[in-house]
Amino acid sequence: MTIRHNKLYLGGISAETLVRKFGSPLYVYEENALRAQYRKLARSITYPYTRIFYACKANTNPEIMKLFGHLGARATPKASARRAGIEAVSVGEVKIARRAGFPVKDIIFTCDNLTPEEIKYLIRHKIAVSADSLGQLEKFGRLNPGGKISLRVNQGIGAGMHSHIITGGRDSKFGIYKTQLDEARRLAARYRLRITGLMQHIGSGVLDEKIYLRAMHALLTVAHKFPDLEFINLGGGIGIPYRPEHKPLDLKSTGAKISEEFRGFIKAYGRELKLYLEPGRFLVAESGILLATVAEIKKTPAHTFVGLNTGMQHLIRPAIYGAYHEIVNASRMRGPKKKVEVVGNICESSDFLARGREITLPREGEILATLNAGAYGYSMSSNYNSHPRPAEVMARAGRARIIRKRERI
Ligand SMILES: Cc1ncc(COP(=O)(O)O)c(C=O)c1O
Repeated sequence: MTIRHNKLYLGGISAETLVRKFGSPLYVYEENALRAQYRKLARSITYPYTRIFYACKANTNPEIMKLFGHLGARATPKASARRAGIEAVSVGEVKIARRAGFPVKDIIFTCDNLTPEEIKYLIRHKIAVSADSLGQLEKFGRLNPGGKISLRVNQGIGAGMHSHIITGGRDSKFGIYKTQLDEARRLAARYRLRITGLMQHIGSGVLDEKIYLRAMHALLTVAHKFPDLEFINLGGGIGIPYRPEHKPLDLKSTGAKISEEFRGFIKAYGRELKLYLEPGRFLVAESGILLATVAEIKKTPAHTFVGLNTGMQHLIRPAIYGAYHEIVNASRMRGPKKKVEVVGNICESSDFLARGREITLPREGEILATLNAGAYGYSMSSNYNSHPRPAEVMARAGRARIIRKRERI
């Protein structure tokens, strides 16, 4: 992202040109940012048998999935560890990953409340599953006795940017609670299931290294009770700095600590295991920008509303999490600023992208850019109020290509 002639440029092209060419609203992804994030993470973990599985729920665009599939983690000497895999949470995501060229051996899966049909699909296609509950473990045992399975563990530790995205702890619906692990082992033995992995995912948007490391330590402590392990999966959750006051994780330092802790564990465990990570947000959030056109400026006695031709139907995070996204006037980056309400075109009062935000006061027809919208943006979008979804475009070095067509009524 750069500024030239007081205008915002994405992947070397002005936001206005992108909108002129591909229409508005528009999701734009900067390819270089996707590559840079992947490399940063891959290089931060020096333990050689590390593998990244992209949590595609963050953004299921097949072109983005393919890009990660082709990126090699240079830090990992093992060829098998180089390709990124996919972490999927629905049969739909598995199917998209397969269509995007990922073989089933490169797909891992976890999800709660699976139906028998979904379980049969996963078994038939030999997808590596982390069972989310004792009930699910038993269902896999009955349908696939003697098979391999891993366990999604809830150590009672949760973290995240908002209570809705904390996925560990006593009140979370996810995972097999730490006090149920003996029962899980008994169940597995009853169906001759081999527990070959342990995974956890404590939550999303974590910027505190300490809690991540504490959760890792807890998982590794319990791992000694499972003699057949092939991998440990630390989940996703690495946050990005959405707000100006947010500090990004020092990945180099965190990665070194993760690697050191894991090496220590391996020594005690007595066998090399693979280390899996399944990040979503960290890889894609900062690459994505939602461009939208100012349709109307409305003044009331209390507020100035900047009304866009998009809204919560295309980026729901502010409405459901009160999430903060930086917003800039891509048509005029510098100019007199004013505190405004940036709102969408949906018939809901929760339809806002920013409240009380200082931006360069736009005029109708100008383009606003909502930043850090690459994760849980398009993938959580809807057709609410019968608005078609925007197109998606990948931009790099002055070139842009469409990676998903705009929907039509
Ligand atoms: C099981 C699991 N793994 C990975 C992720 C990715 O999380 P993040 O985007 O915070 O990295 C999620 C997100 O909800 C998840 O539920």
